[in-house]
This record gives sequence, C-alpha cells and structure tokens, in this order.
Amino acid sequence: MDFSDKALGAAFAPRRLGDCHNVADFRRLAKRRLPGPIFHYIDGAADDELTRRRNGSAYDDCDLVPNVLAGVETVDMRTTVMGKTIAMPLMLSPTALQRLFHWHGERGVARAAEKAGTWFGISSLATVSIEEIGGQISSPKMFQLYVHKDKGLNRSMIERCKAAKFDAIALTVDTIVSGRRERCQRTGFTSPPRLTLASMASFAMHPAWAANYFLREKFELPNLNSHVSEGTNIALSVADYFNTMLDQSMDWKAAEAIRAEWGGEFCLKGVMSVADARRAVDIGATAIMVSNHGGRQLDGSRAPFDQLAEIVDAVGDKIDVICDGGVTRGSHVLKALSVGAKACSGGRLYLYALAAAGQAGVERSVGNLRDEIERGMKLMGAKSVGDLTRENLRWR
Ligand code: LAC
Repeated sequence: MDFSDKALGAAFAPRRLGDCHNVADFRRLAKRRLPGPIFHYIDGAADDELTRRRNGSAYDDCDLVPNVLAGVETVDMRTTVMGKTIAMPLMLSPTALQRLFHWHGERGVARAAEKAGTWFGISSLATVSIEEIGGQISSPKMFQLYVHKDKGLNRSMIERCKAAKFDAIALTVDTIVSGRRERCQRTGFTSPPRLTLASMASFAMHPAWAANYFLREKFELPNLNSHVSEGTNIALSVADYFNTMLDQSMDWKAAEAIRAEWGGEFCLKGVMSVADARRAVDIGATAIMVSNHGGRQLDGSRAPFDQLAEIVDAVGDKIDVICDGGVTRGSHVLKALSVGAKACSGGRLYLYALAAAGQAGVERSVGNLRDEIERGMKLMGAKSVGDLTRENLRWR
C-alpha cells in the first residue's frame, strides 16, 4: 500500500462535513467549495508566506512532558480573559468579510462561539452589523477596530459598540498599511467580488456558493457603509482599501485616546515586541493578542508562539496575553498555556470550517479542538489550565 501523503490525501479527500476530522480536512473541503479567489484570500498570506508557515510550525519545536496518575476524570478548561470566564482556552479571532465565505457568515460563527462558551469577534469589515450581533448572542464578543482617516467613522463604530454592549474592543495595530498578498494580486480578489470573465467562470464552477451569494441577502459592510461605499458598493482589493482608508498616523497617543473614549476592556491586536507589550500596559490595555495577523502583514516577522515566553515574562502578571496564530491542534493550545498565555485564538481554524459547511462546520471544528484540548489535558495530568507550566515543556 502506498502510504505517501499524496496517496493518503487522495484516499481521504473530504467531501462532506462528516469527513472533516481536523483543520486540514476543513481546509481541503473549503478549497472544493469556494471560488478560487475567495479560498486564496483566506488561505493566503504576505509575500513568501514564510511567517504564515512558521506560525504553525513554531509549535513543533517543543514537546509536551506529561505527568501521570493525576486523577483526571474531570478537568476544568475554563480561563478568564478580559474579565470574562470562558469554557475553554481557545477564542475565535475577529475576521473580515465572512458572508463571502458562507451565507451564514458572522451570525453562524457567533452562534457557534456562544455554544462553545468562548470569545468571538467581528471586524470593522464585518458583513453583519454591530447591532445585530449585539442582540444575537450573550456570550463575550469583541469588536476589531480598524482606525480610519475618517474620525467620524471611528467615533461612530465605538459608540455603536457601546450601545450594542460589546464586551471589548480589539484595536488592530499591525495593519498600518496592507501586507502584499500575492495570491490576491494573481486572482484579482476584491470586496465585493468584481464580475470579470475569470471570476464568473470560477463562480460557475461553484454553483452552490454562487447561488447563495447572489440570491440571498445583498453583500454589504454595515459597520462602514454609513461613511464609505468602498468595500460595499465599490469593488476594491483589501490592500487598496487599507492603504487608502486607514490612518497611518495612528500612534500610542491615539491608541490611548481610543481606550479612554471606549472606557471598557481594551485589547491591542498585533503586538509582537516586549517594548510594545509594556507600552500596552502603560496605556491601560487589559489584553494583548500576540499576533502577526496570520502572516498576512509583515512577512519574515516572528511567530506568536516563538515570541510568547519573553512577552509573558515581561507583562504576563499585568495584562492578559493571548497567543493568536497558527493554531490547528489542541496540543498547540496546551503548549501556549504552558508558556503562560491565558488563551489562544485563531481565524483560519474556523474560517475553513465556515466556508466548508457554515455554522455546523464551525461547531464541528471548534468542537474537535475543544475535545483535543480536554483529551490533551487529561493525558498531560492537568486538572485545570493553571496546572500547565513551563515544567511541562522541553525545547528540542
Ligand atoms: C485581512 C484583514 C481584513 O487580513 O483582516 O484580510
């Protein structure tokens, strides 16, 4: 029998939800179901995609050292992040444009997060409004703020989050300009999708996706469209959107002013250096997501897991440190918790599943990861997340 990855890959090619046992399976099913430009928007990253690959492989450079005979018939997977106790130490990072991937979009992801009892977030570039999500779920939700040149727009998004009782704002700090996503350049991906011969051919080859996209609710970005039509009515690449609309003068003073204006739990998403982690504490942030935006921004930058220990050592007792990126297995979460993260978070780990099978896909992918974390904790002899320490890790 041929046990090569290629042969096994063909034998186990996932065709339906029940075939998906891990994030890689969901990725393959998403690839089947989505028009190419949309799949590559999710899957792709900046330049040579070095950082995107390292985000995942960083976890492989250390090994878990279990303790046995710990009496683990029940384990407590809860952790507290930004004042909210969640049922498991894995959060769903905010990501943009979700109704493009599946018509359930942010609504489906929100429901799946609520069922899993964990944090979830919507982007400024979400396809469902702040108000609707605020009314839809009672579990913890964050809003990912992109600071625009249009100050009125920034103010309006913060006010709407207050009125809709969002639990936190995550200020994006790693996207002052857009990374260069070469796959998007090659496919010509825009939001909303531009109708060209090539894009129409890829839609025709994915009729189920196309029927849902064209016949259901109109695509829009309801948190932006009162101020800008770019991205909703005017097809634009994400890079052009960021490079023309976002405020490149944003600095620490601006971040502090946003924190003060918001007045609630405040997270900086995309902090990578110890110096910046300390500044985050100084401006009163309550959490940081150690993140490089899924490798979609600065290619060649370090992976969150590689950078985690020095950040935890510097600020771990003052601020919640979340390890965002590269998570495809429960063991990755166990490793990050052992270093000292409060939780992990990720985008693609549920986006492939959303694209593959909507809300049911997200529930299954998050459920798989939850089970992996629970099983891993039992095998590690850890009865609570606090039992995981650096004693449980060895670098090769
Ligand atoms: C991206 C933005 C929208 O990475 O978060 O494409």
